[in-house]
Amino acid sequence: MTDRSQPADATPDATPDAARQDRAADSTAAAAAAADAAAIDAAAHPAVAVPPGAADPAEMRAHYRAEGLAEADLAPGPMEQFGRWFEEAAHVAEQGGLYEPNAMVVSTVDAEGRPSSRTVLLKQYDERGFVFYTNYTSRKAHDLAANPRIGLLFPWHPMARQVVVTGTATRTGRDETAAYFRTRPHGSQLGAWASEQSSVVASRAELDRAYEDLATRYPEGEAVPVPPHWGGFRIAPRTVEFWQGRENRLHDRLRYTRTPAGAWRVERFYP
Ligand SMILES: Cc1cc2nc3c(=O)[nH]c(=O)nc-3n(C[C@H](O)[C@H](O)[C@H](O)COP(=O)(O)O)c2cc1C
Repeated sequence: MTDRSQPADATPDATPDAARQDRAADSTAAAAAAADAAAIDAAAHPAVAVPPGAADPAEMRAHYRAEGLAEADLAPGPMEQFGRWFEEAAHVAEQGGLYEPNAMVVSTVDAEGRPSSRTVLLKQYDERGFVFYTNYTSRKAHDLAANPRIGLLFPWHPMARQVVVTGTATRTGRDETAAYFRTRPHGSQLGAWASEQSSVVASRAELDRAYEDLATRYPEGEAVPVPPHWGGFRIAPRTVEFWQGRENRLHDRLRYTRTPAGAWRVERFYP
């Protein structure tokens, strides 16, 4: 019989100290969230007009009939399993059934525990984890400097699949960043310089002007230096869940969790 009093993600590898710190962080975050909610309640809520005949999300039901995912079919490690699913997603994308299979939603929390999510592009994966590139002055980078814990989600809806990752982010080395930067199109290299990502810009014209100035300074064919404020994050996974949609909402969820000894434990979760 499953002990339902345990949170689903309670893991025996959490040390008592780590668990205590997590609880302390949770209560601080809960207090901050309560303050946020009170502020929202205090504000006036204007009525939102929904046009007659508008699409109703409650009425939208896709029926998943996909093949299941069995423990026996899994690769020994999550990155190898990810590689298998990523290949299949890339194949579906080639057939036009999926757009940008390397797009993933990245979630971070700031120093006060406020979460935020955004889409980025996966640029590399291997046994060490998942890599994306961004601006180190961005909101997500500030969040990760304060708290390197991170969530990733690959939403492969047309395949009735998602991959959900939790882990820890570290910056890629400058050589690795430079090697990737040089593979980017010239315009994207200039764009990395032109954008002070996540800060307020006075107008679209200001952004375009910054780009034009850079394009004059570094015309096509001229080497663009790697911006010091730009680079990669590598996410070393702690858990990787493979979710396969099935009929009647009886989906398959198989999750790898890294054990303290560095091996991988696989568990099945209720959908
Ligand atoms: C499909 C797609 C791919 C994106 N890829 C990246 C990316 O690889 N790196 C990046 O910094 N932003 C990317 N963005 C923009 C981010 O979603 C986000 O707006 C930006 O990174 C600033 O996020 P932040 O203010 O939360 O740090 C992408 C957006 C979309 C919709």
